[in-house]
Amino acid sequence: MKAENAKKIYIETYGCQMNFSDSEIVASVLAEHGYLPTKEVQAADIILVNTCSIRAHAEERVKKRLRQFRSLKKKNPGLTIGLLGCMADRIKYALGDEESLLDLVAGPDAYRDLPRLLGQVESGQRGVNTLLSLEETYADITPVRLGSNGVSAFISIMRGCENFCSYCVVPYTRGKERSRDAGSILKEAQQLFTQGFREVTLLGQNVNSYRWKEGDTHEVSFDQLLGRIAAIDPKLRIRFATSHPKDLSDELLKTMATYPNICRAIHLPVQSGSNLVLRRMNRKYTRETYMERVESIRKFLPGCAISTDIISGFCDETEENHLETLSLMEWARFDYAFMFKYSERPMTPAAKRLVDNVPEEVKERRLREVIDLQQKLSLVSNRQDQGREFEVLIEGTSKRSNNQFMGRNSQNKVVVFPSIDALPGDYVTVKILSSTSATLLGEAVS
Ligand code: SAH
Ligand code: SF4
Ligand code: F3S
Repeated sequence: MKAENAKKIYIETYGCQMNFSDSEIVASVLAEHGYLPTKEVQAADIILVNTCSIRAHAEERVKKRLRQFRSLKKKNPGLTIGLLGCMADRIKYALGDEESLLDLVAGPDAYRDLPRLLGQVESGQRGVNTLLSLEETYADITPVRLGSNGVSAFISIMRGCENFCSYCVVPYTRGKERSRDAGSILKEAQQLFTQGFREVTLLGQNVNSYRWKEGDTHEVSFDQLLGRIAAIDPKLRIRFATSHPKDLSDELLKTMATYPNICRAIHLPVQSGSNLVLRRMNRKYTRETYMERVESIRKFLPGCAISTDIISGFCDETEENHLETLSLMEWARFDYAFMFKYSERPMTPAAKRLVDNVPEEVKERRLREVIDLQQKLSLVSNRQDQGREFEVLIEGTSKRSNNQFMGRNSQNKVVVFPSIDALPGDYVTVKILSSTSATLLGEAVS
């Protein structure tokens, strides 16, 4: 197909980093078949919405967006609208009227099938594939880096999840856990480095349970994989997410300590500080074992940032349970947190066996208290960095001003400083002079 005749696809992505990474796989599969990505929704022949089901709010946003696309389709009846991602399996329940708008539906393991599904749409049928797979990891597909800053990139190293936390929809939307071929991950990281990228983030719902069988006898574990990628070049930074507290091993912490280019930042979602709540959530660790993991991080990796996820107002959460979450947060002195109100998801064990009985206004108040405390903890954490020097990887100019660079330190904190003679992808030492709860401000030294 000639470039000028190529159909243009607009992809809009919701949800987690894995979903953004998947959109890059989708763009790659479709580029192989002559479709071209566009950033202009108005110019698109095909609109694909890569969706998230994690909370009710995420699904509502997609619904609202589809209503906007309905008017585009009225103007241009030839427009194809497709839904991808975690909502694919539940559109009938989740979308209501908006479902009729969809020409195509493809689940997270069906992206290789997109060209065929689009062919079906062209011949006047609806294209649907929501099958989940036991093997698909898209290992051989080189993602098209959409909206990339040319400095940092995501690499998916596994798919699915089998932890079955009782509140969570992911095991149902993404299926069985499977790890991707270690060789293909290493190759992708190497290629990115050669192209000028300086930071890769390895993605999975629970990266610590990564396991790849190499030959008949050898198994590559997550810490071994990390070590191999870190050895590509000291100038390549490595990050990873997410770590499940039950699987974060000392071996991993020791590997991190060996390589300065494995970033000093661990995202370790705690969800709650109460053992009763943790048990009902089926998280498989206790407040005490979580604290022990945090102590281990502090022992092996002094100065390592620890961030977390917290859910307020889970089923049967009492005021006392909530206070336990606040006290654990203070104890752990989290540098950063993602905080949510519990949102009951259909199909999940919590929806089937527990009652969503914390009143909305109580959920809201508790969440507010959690957010206010984290705001204070982030401020304290950032204030402690004042006067310190960090190696910062420049990502680009700051949002506020073209005369300022923005980058991150190893701890994943955003650092803003007056521009110097350097380029995105360069490392520079920055001395921190002041801070807010979200940003460190400083100046480049030597
Ligand atoms: N695999 C990651 C989390 C992926 S989902 C892990 O286990 O840590 C990201 C976060 O969304 C979760 O950590 C949790 O805090 C939140 N979350 C998941 N399901 C939720 C629900 N039903 N209601 C509110 N928050 C939820
Ligand atoms: Fe969901 Fe738990 Fe799996 Fe994370 S580990 S994706 S919270 S089931
Ligand atoms: Fe959402 Fe699916 Fe990610 S439910 S958070 S897009 S795995």
